[in-house]
Amino acid sequence: MTATAPALEFSTTYSSNPVPAQRRAEILADPGFGTAFTDHMVTAIWTPDGWHDAGLRPYAPLSIDPATAVIHYGQSVFEGLKAYRRDDESIWLFRPEANATRMQRSAERMALPQLPAESFIEAIELLVRADAAWVPAGGETSLYVRPFMFASEVFLGVRPAHHVTFCVIASPAGAYFASGVKPVDIWLSSEYTRAAPGGTGAAKCAGNYAASLVAQQEAIEHGCGQVCFLDAVERRWVEELGGMNLYFVRADGSIVTPELTGTILEGVTRDSIMTLAGDRGYKVEERRVSIDEWRSGVESGEITEVFACGTAAVVTPLGKLKWDGGEVGTGAETGPVTQEIRSALLDVQYGRAGDPHGWMRRVV
Ligand code: COI
Repeated sequence: MTATAPALEFSTTYSSNPVPAQRRAEILADPGFGTAFTDHMVTAIWTPDGWHDAGLRPYAPLSIDPATAVIHYGQSVFEGLKAYRRDDESIWLFRPEANATRMQRSAERMALPQLPAESFIEAIELLVRADAAWVPAGGETSLYVRPFMFASEVFLGVRPAHHVTFCVIASPAGAYFASGVKPVDIWLSSEYTRAAPGGTGAAKCAGNYAASLVAQQEAIEHGCGQVCFLDAVERRWVEELGGMNLYFVRADGSIVTPELTGTILEGVTRDSIMTLAGDRGYKVEERRVSIDEWRSGVESGEITEVFACGTAAVVTPLGKLKWDGGEVGTGAETGPVTQEIRSALLDVQYGRAGDPHGWMRRVV
């Protein structure tokens, strides 16, 4: 199948047993991240003759045979995007077409089928419309939407699955980090790498996140909120954190992000920041950044701020960089450029600013 495959037709079955309004209100008052789920989900099945059985249905556990291929070989990709409620109660998605095409690229790398971009977006819109009451209001809350696709064939041979499930679920979300918008300290992993050339680093596949966990555990043990990975070849170039991209703000007014080398995830937030910062007159560079440049830049004052970005993390200031035997940075506060970029992004997403790049898509 190709990206030009016919669009899916979705059926609709509403839940007869939704979460009571009072319980939903309690959840929305303090949503946290990734713990509560809405009343519906969308699913669709792919077999070699194409996509079928697409529809909105009540949220429910998926019944998985113990021999389902994804459990054994990890043939699985996912996406993350958010729906935002504005002051006028309208609900909007941010750049869903960017997630649609990234899922197509991830699927291609993982030998999963292509889902037409319009069907990816329609599935999300169906779910957000059905569960509009689950989109929180106020602060920086949103409905985090998680589309994913996995090998659902019951078969233990190692080959691309002939039965694949696409699913979209949604979860009301507050801040990703429990500490809120405070600088997060970073642990530099010296033992582990995230991705090697020719590997799956640029794909948003489950295995990349699984591979980051032991290093993330090490970060937590050292009092850090996230781990930073270096390239797998020279162990010198800064790549990304466990689940987010990185930006450096320089004293000369430029901002720099590690260039895409095939081992770094092409973050939608990363890309949007490049445009927003350019709009504000910053010189934006995509280039390799060595770990020595990070360390010595912070020490000398040439690097004034470092921040992480991602759909879940939005723009999160980074504090100290720690490694076995040392640390740099104070990380006392969110820097002014980080704050400016963060506000610029959120203002577009919540409709408080114009949308000159046509990123927002109204759903409700
Ligand atoms: C996202 O930002 O949407 C991600 O998928 C990353 C994960 C840390 C939640």
